[in-house]
Amino acid sequence: MADKLIIFDTTLRDGEQSPGASMTRDEKLRIARQLERLRVDVIEAGFAASSNGDFEAVQAIANAIKDSTICSLSRANDRDISRAAEALKGANNARIHTFIATSALHMEKKLRMSPEQVLEQAKLSVRFARNLVADVEFSPEDGYRSDVDFLCRVIEAVIAEGATTINVPDTVGYAVPELYGNFIKTLRERVPNSDKAIWSVHCHNDLGMAVANSLAGVKIGGARQVECTINGLGERAGNCSLEEIVMAVRTRKDYFNLEMNIDPVHIVAASRMVSQTTGFVVQPNKAVVGANAFAHASGIHQDGMLKARETYEIMRAEDVGWSSNKMVLGKLSGRNAFKQRLQDLGIQMDSEADTNAAFARFKELADGKSEIFDEDILALVSDESVTHEKEQYGFVSLSQHSETGERPQATVVFTVDGKEVRGESDGNGPVDASLKAIETHVKSGAEMVLYSVNAISGSTESQGEVTVRLQNSGRVVNGVGADPDIVVASAKAYLSALSKLQSKADRVAAQG
Ligand code: KIV
Ligand code: ZN
Repeated sequence: MADKLIIFDTTLRDGEQSPGASMTRDEKLRIARQLERLRVDVIEAGFAASSNGDFEAVQAIANAIKDSTICSLSRANDRDISRAAEALKGANNARIHTFIATSALHMEKKLRMSPEQVLEQAKLSVRFARNLVADVEFSPEDGYRSDVDFLCRVIEAVIAEGATTINVPDTVGYAVPELYGNFIKTLRERVPNSDKAIWSVHCHNDLGMAVANSLAGVKIGGARQVECTINGLGERAGNCSLEEIVMAVRTRKDYFNLEMNIDPVHIVAASRMVSQTTGFVVQPNKAVVGANAFAHASGIHQDGMLKARETYEIMRAEDVGWSSNKMVLGKLSGRNAFKQRLQDLGIQMDSEADTNAAFARFKELADGKSEIFDEDILALVSDESVTHEKEQYGFVSLSQHSETGERPQATVVFTVDGKEVRGESDGNGPVDASLKAIETHVKSGAEMVLYSVNAISGSTESQGEVTVRLQNSGRVVNGVGADPDIVVASAKAYLSALSKLQSKADRVAAQG
């Protein structure tokens, strides 16, 4: 019988650590629900002790998600571990993931602790965590660059204290596949009680090898858990990408011979949700979830595909949630066709009221745009009017005038805590004038660190999707807005980012 490969998703913890990717509690909860639909085994929901905001997000996810194990990261100290346990109280299956650095460099320069102190701290922490929950994961941070003899001592000791999963991070993305695979193999062979724990891989992508290294950890090393993120989101060059790992193991079952719980049909919707929430755009040629991943443009490829799709396709687009039915929707499409398309795209609305709101938004869009593509539908289900997420600032209407040689003028009507206000301004262009019109009331003092416009589908009829990243007093937030009018999309994105700036959550870095 094939072994099982555990998929541990850390989009909401390690993924969120990438600068500018921070998410609100409600955004995290929506993504967690999508991860549950995807049937991810373990969701690392955050780092409860890092901030009140993260504590609340872990708690909300632990209370709402029942099918996946919910995990919180914690440094190796009693306070962090207690906070994690407290946040996880409502979970059906709770895991505490505690970590401490074991490489000479990190111990000496960062922790200023001797190896013996680190060993002792690791043991005490796992013992403490095991008294609070049955499922405890231990990570020796910078494990791949640690001295192998010392690492074996630490791992043996924490397994003896009751750690149920041992995760070996390549924290800085330094590994190469064969060496990393053999490293895990050596550890498993040398640690006398290695069979008492599940071994896990956690690879960063600094040299572009996170997925390859993780697969080697599984194939050569015998790891049975992979830590990964949707779209490979994460600090610096990111983490191992969930969609690539899952589809590699699934497509090459002949080689890996492993079973997974994952239902891949929800992958594209998850990718879209994470990209929209964080403002981290997915490159068109990204494996599995990029817009071109299944597009066959050359004549030879198209001809082959028409004769037999296996000539150029190793996976089926519909298996990961790209709709197989290329019929585009339009203003004459009814509710049933719309609901069917949501289902084909792997989107499950939380309630009938949400489906109604999404359908109303769809009709509005179809009035001005002859063809509605899958990308439009994926964008509209994330719209604030559909998700009902209460934001402090809400868009109402906008008018602007621009003419060659004239300075553009804009008037924006928006709500502040439900009360309508109107701002007017001129600017360098219509977008600039509109955002300045908003600022005449808000006076946020925020600095814009990113403004990007992306056409959701390929024509001038397309909706524009705008991402705005704002920074103020050390906080960085993203706002995303979609509309066929890119000036309106910009105003929506800006208001959404301002709303997030106002929310109080403070945060500290997960890794010291
Ligand atoms: O990359 C890393 O070392 C981590 C640990 C906290 C597991 O994310
Ligand atoms: Zn990491």
